[in-house]
Amino acid sequence: DPELVAKGEKVFKKCKACHMVGEGAKNRVGPELTDVIGRTAGTVDGFKYSSAMIDAGKGGLIWTNEALHTYLKKPKDMVPGTKMTFAGLKKESERDAVIAYLDSFKK
Ligand code: HEM
Repeated sequence: DPELVAKGEKVFKKCKACHMVGEGAKNRVGPELTDVIGRTAGTVDGFKYSSAMIDAGKGGLIWTNEALHTYLKKPKDMVPGTKMTFAGLKKESERDAVIAYLDSFKK
């Protein structure tokens, strides 16, 4: 849905201070998010994750649409100890949109 993706691009402004996505995206304060849907948590090469995030990935956390909804609502509730210092997106519609935006970037 192109409209949802366009809305998600606006929501992603809240993420941009720390994350890049798309061609040539690099790790910044947070890991690059290209192709994040389906990725195991804590696995981008060269990014220094919290041990909480690495353990979550080892425990089987995969960034599905559903998992991203839970994480982005309140990151520290889902992954206590995460170093992503972001309160979260309270609105389900904003989470839907930003996830659709992320899903539009494939490697
Ligand atoms: C991790 C998404 C906002 C900093 C992550 C991960 C996702 C994500 C999916 C896990 C990536 C992985 O396992 O490889 C988002 C989205 C945001 C957002 C969609 C906006 C809605 C922010 C902001 C910051 C930030 C504003 C900085 C203040 C980080 C950091 C990590 C991370 C440092 C690594 C966490 C850890 O190792 O515990 N983010 N993020 N993020 N993000 Fe964000």
